[in-house]
Amino acid sequence: MKLQSRAVETRSETRAAKLQGKRVGFVPTMGALHDGHISLVRAAKAQSDFVLASIFVNPTQFGPNEDLAKYPRTFEADRKKLEAEGVDLLFAPSVEEMYPDGAVTFVPVEGISDRLDGRSRPGHFRGVATVVAKLCHIAEPDVAFFGQKDAAQVAIIKRMVRDLMFPVEIVVVPIVREPDGLALSSRNAYLSPAERKQATVLSRALREVHAQYRSGERSAARLIEAARQVFASEPSVRLDYVEIVDRDTLESVSQVKAGTLVAVAAFVGSTRLIDNVVLT
Ligand code: PAF
Repeated sequence: MKLQSRAVETRSETRAAKLQGKRVGFVPTMGALHDGHISLVRAAKAQSDFVLASIFVNPTQFGPNEDLAKYPRTFEADRKKLEAEGVDLLFAPSVEEMYPDGAVTFVPVEGISDRLDGRSRPGHFRGVATVVAKLCHIAEPDVAFFGQKDAAQVAIIKRMVRDLMFPVEIVVVPIVREPDGLALSSRNAYLSPAERKQATVLSRALREVHAQYRSGERSAARLIEAARQVFASEPSVRLDYVEIVDRDTLESVSQVKAGTLVAVAAFVGSTRLIDNVVLT
């Protein structure tokens, strides 16, 4: 696996691969890799001929009081994991490389970026869309892989790609969970053993909603209430939101159907976790 920190060299490598007729797959990450990321890499390996991964803790997607400084940085372990998975090229730029002095151009995906996590984390999706746009310009991938766990991010990236006519296919890879249901997240590393147990309330609430949907409940208000009741059983966890929305627009719905997105966010101690389920 080659390692690059410069945008221009990275583009030369992916262009060379494309000139050889290879389909370039891209897995953008912020590092602290877990099995959820590895599932993205494996999907990329299966669906492309040349796999590029990036590791960049993107400062513009963190709010002023968020965890940018303490975000887990495990570069050496990450590099080994990507190499073992057969990634061809790792792009790990510096902040200065991605945001040269004086950079003032951003990509706001309007409206949709203010919903779900965007409401709780103002400016977050502007930072995400900006960095993903830059990374796609640098690497010019044919296909890019994102995890369903960040369902709002998926909707926003898809919208940006459509609106700005990026020639890249977006593939969404299912959530990877621990045996007790907790969705894998780099932020799970922040949890104490007691918080780790409490954190299962997110997936338990989603399971309850899904079970009620499968038993015939179609009212979003009643399903939200069912989720809230599960959260009430874990009073130390502070619910940020439970929302039932159209998965493309992130707008609330009053009646659910197959394909509707149920999303939750909650603070377990000081750690904010998210999870979701698409009703089937
Ligand atoms: O999902 C993430 O890890 C990040 O939001 C992403 C897509 C790598 C952009 O920084």
